[in-house]
Amino acid sequence: MPGIDFRSDTVAMPSPEMRQAMVTAPLGDDVFGDDPTTNRLMEVAAGRMGKEAATFVPSGTMGNLIGIAVSTQSGQELIADADSHAFYYETAGAAAVCGVQIRPVATEAGVMSPEQVVGAVRPRDDPHQPITAAITFENTHNRHGGIVWPLDALRAASDAAHEQGLRVHLDGARIFNAAVALGVDASDIADCADTVTFCLSKGLACPVGSIFCGSAEDVEEARRWRKRLGGGMRQVGVLAAAGLIALEKMVDRLADDHANARTLAEGLAELPGVRCDLNRVQTNLVYFDLEKMPAGAFVDECTKRGLLSDSTGLRSIRFVTHYGIDAEDVQSALKICEEVLNA
Ligand SMILES: Cc1ncc(COP(=O)(O)O)c(C=O)c1O
Repeated sequence: MPGIDFRSDTVAMPSPEMRQAMVTAPLGDDVFGDDPTTNRLMEVAAGRMGKEAATFVPSGTMGNLIGIAVSTQSGQELIADADSHAFYYETAGAAAVCGVQIRPVATEAGVMSPEQVVGAVRPRDDPHQPITAAITFENTHNRHGGIVWPLDALRAASDAAHEQGLRVHLDGARIFNAAVALGVDASDIADCADTVTFCLSKGLACPVGSIFCGSAEDVEEARRWRKRLGGGMRQVGVLAAAGLIALEKMVDRLADDHANARTLAEGLAELPGVRCDLNRVQTNLVYFDLEKMPAGAFVDECTKRGLLSDSTGLRSIRFVTHYGIDAEDVQSALKICEEVLNA
């Protein structure tokens, strides 16, 4: 059914220029380090993050798992927000694959204070307790509404972690949304972390792929982990070619997704029985609650009218704007929502 698809920014289709670049990209075997297009993307991506090196991974989930793997040892602990993607949605990979326990810390809006960081670190001199080896921060924060960490808050949390001897991994799946919203370079955000994962396949509209960045030593170890996890890819330049277009052409346009999300949120907040916290709508995610209708029924009725979305709870819904959604779609979507809520 043709329609307006708000389920995720992962549904964004590659641009015509990406498709063209994928067809003509020079290729080699990336497991041998021979793929010129992938090597070029790694150079550009590491530069954008201000890190020494980078490696292409199939997904954000694998990038985060590798981030945990290179910073911990089996039997150790990792601190993460209780609503973080790493804790909530990554199938307990840290435990299953790395033997690492995650210590979840509940936060008000996805931003962890330095006191919370320090409070979650285990005392080193107690043999009953695991060693806290690392911490992960998520920016933008998905389950907290796509909020952006203020740069000084991220710096303060990261400094607190480093002072405790922890390694810092940043789940920057949507780091460019954060950078555009703050009006800073992504490297200013990435500078707060030792290792970073960011996704090409979300707002940047690539068909597949994420990138893991860090020091040359971390990336060498990451490539070993990637192979272990079955993520070593061969002529992956067909995907990297789209990634190069993404970094060159798709970052600035994220501001359009943010403006569309804002319009959407403001329109939703005016509808009867809708609660939407506009303060949390800072990037391309719009979370809202329904007072009078179960979320499942709302999603079903919208879907019948060509508006696709996902419920995130019994009464809550998430709409995501992305490449392929324009201002007109936002107005059409609002009309559909109004019709469904008034039916
Ligand atoms: C914040 C965050 N981190 C990581 C991921 C995982 O990315 P992938 O779906 O590519 O595994 C997602 C996916 O939605 C995400 O929202």
